[in-house]
Amino acid sequence: MNFANIRVHPDQMKCTLSPDFYGVFFEEINHAGDGGLYAELVRNRNFMDARIPEGTAWYQDRAVTENGQTEPWKLDDPLPGWHLRTTGHANGTMYGSIENPRNHDVPNQLVMTAENTTCGTVTVYNTGYWGMTVFPGEYRLTMIVRGTISSLHAEIETPYGETVGSCEVTAVGEAFSKISATLTVSKHANGCHLTLTAGSDGVLMFDFVSLFPKQTFKNRENGMNPRIAQMIADLSPSFFRFPGGCIVEGICLETAFSFADTLGPVEDRKGCYNLWGYRRSDGIGYHEYLTFCEDIGAKALYVVNCGMSCQCRAPEYGTDEQIEKFLNDAIHAIEYAIGDPLTSEWAARRAQAGHPEPFPLAYIEIGNENWGDEYLVRYQRFIDTLKQRFPSLIYIINDYHVDKNAAKQPAFYDLIDEHFYVTPERFLAMAHRYDRYPRNGKGVYVGEYAANQEVGIGNMAAACAEAAFLIHLEENGDLVKMASYAPLLCHMRDRKWPVNLICYEDDHVFGIPSYHVQKLFSHHRAEQIVKTTVAVDSFTGEAQIRATAGICKDGTILLKIAHFSKEPTQVTIHIGDQFVPRKLFGVFAESPESENSIEKPEHVSIQDLPAEDSFVMRPYGVYLLVFDTKADIE
Ligand code: AHR
Repeated sequence: MNFANIRVHPDQMKCTLSPDFYGVFFEEINHAGDGGLYAELVRNRNFMDARIPEGTAWYQDRAVTENGQTEPWKLDDPLPGWHLRTTGHANGTMYGSIENPRNHDVPNQLVMTAENTTCGTVTVYNTGYWGMTVFPGEYRLTMIVRGTISSLHAEIETPYGETVGSCEVTAVGEAFSKISATLTVSKHANGCHLTLTAGSDGVLMFDFVSLFPKQTFKNRENGMNPRIAQMIADLSPSFFRFPGGCIVEGICLETAFSFADTLGPVEDRKGCYNLWGYRRSDGIGYHEYLTFCEDIGAKALYVVNCGMSCQCRAPEYGTDEQIEKFLNDAIHAIEYAIGDPLTSEWAARRAQAGHPEPFPLAYIEIGNENWGDEYLVRYQRFIDTLKQRFPSLIYIINDYHVDKNAAKQPAFYDLIDEHFYVTPERFLAMAHRYDRYPRNGKGVYVGEYAANQEVGIGNMAAACAEAAFLIHLEENGDLVKMASYAPLLCHMRDRKWPVNLICYEDDHVFGIPSYHVQKLFSHHRAEQIVKTTVAVDSFTGEAQIRATAGICKDGTILLKIAHFSKEPTQVTIHIGDQFVPRKLFGVFAESPESENSIEKPEHVSIQDLPAEDSFVMRPYGVYLLVFDTKADIE
């Protein structure tokens, strides 16, 4: 057992904490959007998923950019997610086509032919994102089709062949038309398929097939999976960063995120190769991102491409003309979010889409993980224009290998974005990083961080080290204005990134231990950080404690503690007689390796403990004490 004393000095103010300190970072990685946050159940609903990534040539199972960036890309399945089934003596085929498309930008179609359907069945079916999860309630089936098959029987079928919802759809004729029907699902099931069975002989060209739950987060029509969205909302993020991450940059400029391509009817969104190994649908488009920010009460932080592709890959540096195009895109995106519909064509599009009021866009980051002269030249061009046109926004510069002492410095920025993906030990070793950081009137935004090495899918040791890091950031709140853990979401069947805050598969959704620390700290935010000292009496010499305290608007004191030690520690808090502990929360586990999982989703989570000013801290435990003033209680 170790012993420690923590002294809180409520009368000695250190700094003010930014009200936007805690936020989230979203990127379409690990099927974060498609198959995750986005509620669509059909995978490859526009049949475009097998297309060779934009701006690449195909060579021996790889997509290759002009600059030599290569990505694995197989051509063996022309219609990913879709399958054919026949029974009895019926004959059927299923193949892809781009003939006579409805929309030349989204030309791919699925063609189904059916013969002898009086003696059997011909069915095309979609397996979703590793199966579809459904709950009792209504689902909207939307299709754009043409052809001679006169009707379709649609079913949601479990892996055991049980039908949990069905409907009949009458087709259509020779021209493409959009048809919708409602399926009422009778029971909860995982691993389901959507089946579409021909009601007659003939041929049918499918241009688009969507199956969407009517119940989405805040009941938005093209909305979010309520269970995953709620997990994000429960973090009470002050800001929501999107769309990334590397997807802002792309493997080449043709695959860089283009906000305009993500607007408008979902059937006209072509999607794009996503650099994390799959094509995304852009079902969560720019408008949906902004709506989601509003729905969770977060400010939007939008990252724009400044005319270069990912520098960690084989970068493409855009020409003057291309840079100008990206700059115009940035202007249009900002106008779309906050412009006046009477004077801006892009803001008018927002109003037409049902949102005349501006969205809560507050932050613009120029580039993602960009560096060097190529970056600084582009940054300068962007900031000169954007700052003048939109002076009320807060501008963020990348800090990826930027030499803070170099002669060449950008003229203006509000915040500099630093990223850390390291071991838990490294986070502890960074305990003084920002104490020594130059104070030059600019702020820091820690835009991506996670203890993600040697920690499994995210364990207690990682959560504790991040807590220590966050405590250090809060202590430097005069400098560090915002922080977002990254990445946010992960479908367990496509774990591209080693450690992610919220994981899911089928109907299971859980947060790793870091999630619970984020939630605890984000829910309890002080306004003023005060001086706090820690004295450890450790027999083993290995006990490490980080602590910070702060005062909230209502006079409550919050004390956050990260206890990085193999042994328990008896800690005593000294804060003065006028304060009494009201609440004590802990996030801890039986071992630093402890993780959450589908089987044990809340194994490590926030525990409500008896509030004492002296208590035993478990090894690798994170604690939060809430003190009231006696006067308030009496
Ligand atoms: O968060 C995953 C990736 O890590 C981001 O896309 C990138 O910005 C960083 O390198």
